Amino acid sequence: MADEWIRQQTRISLQRLLPRLRAEFKEAAESMPQHWDAFEKRLDSHWPRLFAILIRLYGSRYDFFYHLEQILFTAARSWLDRPEALKTLDEAREADGQWFQSQEMVGGVLYADLFSDNITQLHEHIPYFKELGLTYVHLMPPFAVPAGDSDGGYAVNSYRMLDPSLGTMEDLSELGDRLREEGISLVVDFVFNHTSDEHEWALRAQGGEPEYQDFYYLFADRTLPDQYERNLRNIFPEVRKGSFTWHEGMRKWVWTTFHSFQWDLNYANPAVFRAMAEEMLFLANVGVEVLRLDAVAFIWKRMGTDCENLPEAHMIIQAFNAICRIAAPSLLFKSEAIVHPDEVIRYIDTDECRLSYNPMLMALLWEALATRGTRLIEHAMRKRSRIPNDCSWVNYLRCHDDIGWTFDDNDAWEVGIDPGAHRRFLNDFYTGQFPGSFARGIPFQFNAESGDQRVSGTLASLAGLEQALLANDPLLIDMAIRRIVMLRSIVLSIGGIPLIYLGEEWGMLNDYSYITDTRKAGDSRWVHRPKIHWGTDRWSDPEALERRLFKEVAAMIKMRKSLPALRNGGMEVISTENPHLFGYIRHNKGQRMLIVNNFSEHPQSMGENRLRVYGLGYRFMDHVSGITFPAGRPLELGPYGFVWLETTEYTRPL
Ligand code: GLC
Ligand code: GLC
Repeated sequence: MADEWIRQQTRISLQRLLPRLRAEFKEAAESMPQHWDAFEKRLDSHWPRLFAILIRLYGSRYDFFYHLEQILFTAARSWLDRPEALKTLDEAREADGQWFQSQEMVGGVLYADLFSDNITQLHEHIPYFKELGLTYVHLMPPFAVPAGDSDGGYAVNSYRMLDPSLGTMEDLSELGDRLREEGISLVVDFVFNHTSDEHEWALRAQGGEPEYQDFYYLFADRTLPDQYERNLRNIFPEVRKGSFTWHEGMRKWVWTTFHSFQWDLNYANPAVFRAMAEEMLFLANVGVEVLRLDAVAFIWKRMGTDCENLPEAHMIIQAFNAICRIAAPSLLFKSEAIVHPDEVIRYIDTDECRLSYNPMLMALLWEALATRGTRLIEHAMRKRSRIPNDCSWVNYLRCHDDIGWTFDDNDAWEVGIDPGAHRRFLNDFYTGQFPGSFARGIPFQFNAESGDQRVSGTLASLAGLEQALLANDPLLIDMAIRRIVMLRSIVLSIGGIPLIYLGEEWGMLNDYSYITDTRKAGDSRWVHRPKIHWGTDRWSDPEALERRLFKEVAAMIKMRKSLPALRNGGMEVISTENPHLFGYIRHNKGQRMLIVNNFSEHPQSMGENRLRVYGLGYRFMDHVSGITFPAGRPLELGPYGFVWLETTEYTRPL
């Protein structure tokens, strides 16, 4: 479509819709003229963007204008209903659009029922969050789900109702308020690629209503599914082959990328877009400050492609983004794209997702830990960590999902690594099969055809603590702790928002009891989703290992917060000229820091010239040890040691 034509239509459509909108909301607009003006202003600025996307996606539909009008009405209604406290937040965020870039940001993620008992009980843990230093808490999907397996909450029956065992929407909203009062942002998932097969829309589709059958991808026979499947990946190959599920009641095949009970939504239908926009704004008004957009890669399908990362997937997210800018301006999106690094980056944009998981850094940290070598991480991070200035990575070591080896094959070849063989090695290493491995991970979703596999396990078990504790060997325990702390040093200092998968801050180990639970046994990710028993003696013993680990993290977080150089922004990977060291420079507000981490269990050093070139200084202060020393001698690091060096006397001005 020609741009000029779209521009004309943009204007005409708004001229046509605005009077209808004003008429519909006349009373409300008159009773809160300021709020209404603010709305119209934002509509005016974001309408061109929203309209240009929607007309491209849905312009050929006979009912396009009807949907457009309904979307606007929803946005207006949602804005008018938005609680005062959130409108105040909107203003604050508008005044400080870069709030999430601060080095004071630190995230935590948890399951309400596993970390605590339910949402109300979580209030009791707010002091714990504060002691640790969190400013962002991500609650794993708390929504109503089918009984039995619900993919850990990712099969949603209703976006407006919580799982009754966790609480009510009011409880969630209250938690959001309480957290906000404490300076902590509530993050919740927007599971928008699919609903469960028990969502009202799916039930009505099963009941034979054509309108709702159009909400999903249904096929009367295998013709189209077979054609699509030629190019589709199997996400859960151990569970089932293929991406379609036969539904006996409807006598139709349903598109189910993940489990058979997770039905992919049909975003080619504008009614789906509109319905999901309503659910999204509903969550925004509950008080969610960041929405984690789940499985973004899969939301658009086109025959002949792998149906991942299609341009329309980006357009859908951008359209959602524009709607939020109009009706819930402070809401941020975080992208969950666990795909090739080039594709991950494409979701990160001011007008798309401001935040994104960084699965490549996560995978490469584990890669370097296994190999004791930093060639690949150094090379790949130098090439691929740059994103727009007003966006930010979310950096993590572990999450509720498995680890997949998402690095670029060419990056590996370029440093002399055979990517296929290397991934096999990494799987062997982290499942403890490689001789001498310290890791005790569990295989996840072995694909017999491709040989692909991923790995489950907690940070501590993968880093060697489980093995060391079993061997009851103080030396091994010490090494494992050093690995954990060094990995954390990187996540806390490399830029972006560090995200802690809660429990990992005190070294929780794999929990094998999931095997006895029929709802969980088939999914090894449950090994790293243990129920936490806070009342245990170990936790109350200040000398316990768990306590020491916790204190160490909390102290490191405190240190991060005090260093303006660690605010999100430029990060330059350096050549340490030692294959075991990984170093980078961070600077901001006149503070310059050189951070170097040792991935080897042996002492390593970095030459004095490197130190002077990158540190730009005569004198350095290491924030980790508190020691100040002059340039002119090599930097020595102990086993898995690291330094956060600040240059205190410069050789030349910044
Ligand atoms: C995301 C979630 C994962 C879930 C999948 C399907 O990748 O992180 O746990 O299985 O989406 O919703
Ligand atoms: C795949 C998907 C990712 C999901 C994961 C669950 O890697 O790309 O979105 O989290 O499977 O295991």
